[in-house]
Amino acid sequence: ALIVRHRMRCSSRWARAMAIVRELEEKCGSPEAKLKQVADAMTVEMHAGLASEGGSKLKMLISHVDNLPTGDEEGVYYALDLGGTNFRVLRVELGGKTGGIVSQEFAEASIPPELMVGTSEALFDYIAAELAKFITEEEEKYHPPPGRQRELGFTFSFPVMQNSINSGTLMRWTKGFSIDDMVGNDVVAELSKAMHRQGVDVHVSALVNDTIGTLAGGRFSNKDVAIAVIMGTGTNAAYVERAQAIPKWHGPLPNSGEMVINMEWGNFKSSHLPLTEYDHALDAESLNAGEQVFEKLISGMYLGEILRRVLLRMAEEAAFFGDEVPPKLKTPFVLRTPDMSAMHHDTSADLRVVSNKLKDIFEVSNTTLKTRRAVVELCNIIATRGARLAAAGIFGVLKKMGKDTSTGAEKTVIAMDGGLYEHYTEYRKCLENTLIELLGGDGSSSIAFEHSNDGSGIGAALLAASHSQYRNESS
Ligand code: GLC
Repeated sequence: ALIVRHRMRCSSRWARAMAIVRELEEKCGSPEAKLKQVADAMTVEMHAGLASEGGSKLKMLISHVDNLPTGDEEGVYYALDLGGTNFRVLRVELGGKTGGIVSQEFAEASIPPELMVGTSEALFDYIAAELAKFITEEEEKYHPPPGRQRELGFTFSFPVMQNSINSGTLMRWTKGFSIDDMVGNDVVAELSKAMHRQGVDVHVSALVNDTIGTLAGGRFSNKDVAIAVIMGTGTNAAYVERAQAIPKWHGPLPNSGEMVINMEWGNFKSSHLPLTEYDHALDAESLNAGEQVFEKLISGMYLGEILRRVLLRMAEEAAFFGDEVPPKLKTPFVLRTPDMSAMHHDTSADLRVVSNKLKDIFEVSNTTLKTRRAVVELCNIIATRGARLAAAGIFGVLKKMGKDTSTGAEKTVIAMDGGLYEHYTEYRKCLENTLIELLGGDGSSSIAFEHSNDGSGIGAALLAASHSQYRNESS
């Protein structure tokens, strides 16, 4: 009798756990019709954001880039790429018309977490010191030409109100950074002061968002690139707009007739987004509540955290991991998206990877195969929602550009970058397939994705070259 009762208890717990899974699946549903509503809402907000400053949740920031690289760029440029979990310093040698990228060196470091929430001086001193170290090492190998100041392209991947190609003020932080004394300050001025304190003489020639850098880097290698999308710690998109379609731009009409726009689409919000109780709680407890709602549904910083929240509820309400709730499961952000991805891609018959991850991260051992299968299913539900919404976002941009049909002979190439896109295969496949689904019929012939590896750093160097202080001198 005892055994029978135990079984009954187990099966009702399991039923409760599965009810939570089914409910999640239902709430995360993103059928094509819904995605089209999301895309239309995106297009509407794009118009509103271009019409007036503050006219929409979409900032539609003017990048001051009205010419993308042509391939003629020449010389040695440095780049500094700050914006996610890591930051990078690069040295790029550009060979001009026929030379392409002659050489490229880089160093990478992770940002100490305390610097993400400290003071701007501490963060910039750290970055400038790493840059100074890198430059010293590089110049031992390659001797710089005399009489020329070093020049740098700065990729700073946060919302910045640009005043020119090489100045702009930070509007606010995203992605877990929170340094109050920096908001409203000129990013280039802060970097320049820090470089001065480190005793390194570098002129910042271009300040760009990572999407803008990726667009520039992508265009350099493929002239059909017209959109750039970052799927990494955060998410965002940039595209080439007609200058005349930007009512809020009061500057001179560029010769090219074009202007690159940094959408800051992470802050997109719409009643059509499939939000769940987990998303609302995650948002409320975040450093930037009410903001970056789209980003919190689809980007690498948050996917694993959403999964943790669902598992915690299953542990608390349905004893999913046994009688006790594993204490580790209560720690925000312990489950990182790369771990979620590893579990999602586990193809072993007994789901060994899932079992090991659950042990390593939450200290739960002896999970049953059934439990592990449910975890994989949750990964799939959460990743699929994110990837499909990201595709809907791209579809909205294509619509705004009038490139959402498969007629027309030209191809639109989308330069993609970011760790999520690069490493989470299921996510990437789902994103790409969903965009083709949305384009309908022959969608695959009108667009192409291109992974622009490290494009944002190279792109910043290219833009530093085309905006060099020496550009009008003959070299
Ligand atoms: C966040 C930032 C944005 C950046 C994106 C991808 O959304 O606000 O500027 O482009 O992350 O790194």
